[in-house]
Amino acid sequence: MAFDYGKFVSSGVGKQLATALGLPRPSRLRRHEPGDPLIGGAVLVAGHGDAPVAELLTGALSADVQIATSPSTSVSGVVVDMTQIETPADLETLRGIVGPALKTLGATGRVIVIGRPVEDASSVAQSAARRALEGIVRSIGKEMRGGGTANTVYVAEGADEGVIAPVRFFLSGRSAYVSAQVVHVGSPVAPIEQPADLDRPLAGKVAIVTGAARGIGASIAEVLSRDGATIVAVDIPAAGGPLSEVANRLGGTALQVDVTAQDAGEKIVEHAKARHGGFDIVVHNAGITRDKLLANTDADRWDSVLQVNLLSILRMNEALVPAINDGGHIVNVASIAGIAGNRGQTNYAASKAGVIGMTRALATDPQVIAKGVTVNAVAPGFIETEMTAKVPFATREAGRLMNSLSQGGKPVDVAETIGFLAWDSNRGVTGNTVRVCGQMLLGA
Ligand SMILES: NC(=O)c1ccc[n+]([C@@H]2O[C@H](COP(=O)([O-])OP(=O)(O)OC[C@H]3O[C@@H](n4cnc5c(N)ncnc54)[C@H](O)[C@@H]3O)[C@@H](O)[C@H]2O)c1
Repeated sequence: MAFDYGKFVSSGVGKQLATALGLPRPSRLRRHEPGDPLIGGAVLVAGHGDAPVAELLTGALSADVQIATSPSTSVSGVVVDMTQIETPADLETLRGIVGPALKTLGATGRVIVIGRPVEDASSVAQSAARRALEGIVRSIGKEMRGGGTANTVYVAEGADEGVIAPVRFFLSGRSAYVSAQVVHVGSPVAPIEQPADLDRPLAGKVAIVTGAARGIGASIAEVLSRDGATIVAVDIPAAGGPLSEVANRLGGTALQVDVTAQDAGEKIVEHAKARHGGFDIVVHNAGITRDKLLANTDADRWDSVLQVNLLSILRMNEALVPAINDGGHIVNVASIAGIAGNRGQTNYAASKAGVIGMTRALATDPQVIAKGVTVNAVAPGFIETEMTAKVPFATREAGRLMNSLSQGGKPVDVAETIGFLAWDSNRGVTGNTVRVCGQMLLGA
């Protein structure tokens, strides 16, 4: 059996040894279960100046969360509205609120800071102050203990209603492995609709998931189904057995198609229309690796990775984008390798960085905007799957530990973030790439 550092340092002797040597010890993360409250305790909501977003959030969240207004109360989460800051001197408000709160914040605590976009600032000093928020929050992420996370939301003037969905996500157990991220909220591409049932935010939706037979794709299918969606599970014919198992278990349908086939997009559209009357969500998850140093990478190795991970998505979208229901959501699976680069993965990093570029561009495509469709990406860090189980011991343990939560993520963490990017209450978020990496130190 392979040595598991996380299990070892949680055991009696391992715990003592880790404490004596100052080694990192992973905390138990709070992961969402249906019926769970949004967060276990009170949330301090405060801010600078009139703090209009804090007021909006207090109204929006008070039905589900106990709101605290004084930093002296013991809380499970802190939300700070810094939208009204003018100069770096105003950052003192953030220190004054979060500093004391960190002393009482329980395990798996949450810090969320809200600002206005740096590029919309009216002065150089204001730009500096707004950009400083990101630096502060990333540092808080590294100071948090007990599986806590810290994230930033930049919301454009006039788009404040769009912060409710990201704040809900970041407070909840759905964001267990998401830390030090920056989510940008703009004018919604279609009217924002808050879910009737917070546990089933995807009720009535049809979701296509590629690469759904196993690993992260199977988990995405499971989470989207749990949240109310009907699943079209897509994978290669060779994975037909496990693919049907996933589809049958979730009451969805299976479609055996290689995403690199010229007519893959048309086949998916045909299937979704014939079996489900259309579709609302597309998750481009299918992906492969063919690792070698660039010096040893031949044209076949190069091409196969680019074909599956990137070119197939571009080609399929030619059929999927015109056919997706208005107000739908497209989510692409990128990778931290596309941000930080990785030795032996130039082909993979090219494909995943390409996915991030494509996501940004497609989100601003006039046809996509006219349909009110959002396009976002997730970039997983080290996720515990069959793929990462095969990584050599030292590299694997380094991958697991080199993040602020000192552990690998689970497929469900990626799936939950994809689910959030498919909520109709989240229509102000488009063109974003959200890392699911526990604040991995690579490419930070
Ligand atoms: N596991 C990680 O740590 C990690 C990290 C970053 C990104 N990712 C990305 O997440 C996604 C899922 O990864 P995983 O770890 O679950 O991998 P996996 O190999 O376990 O699963 C990938 C699935 O995609 C399917 N697939 C491959 N080629 C296909 C094709 N041509 N047509 C249709 N289906 C195809 C496979 O059959 C398989 O079911 C990939 O895009 C991967 O690059 C994974």
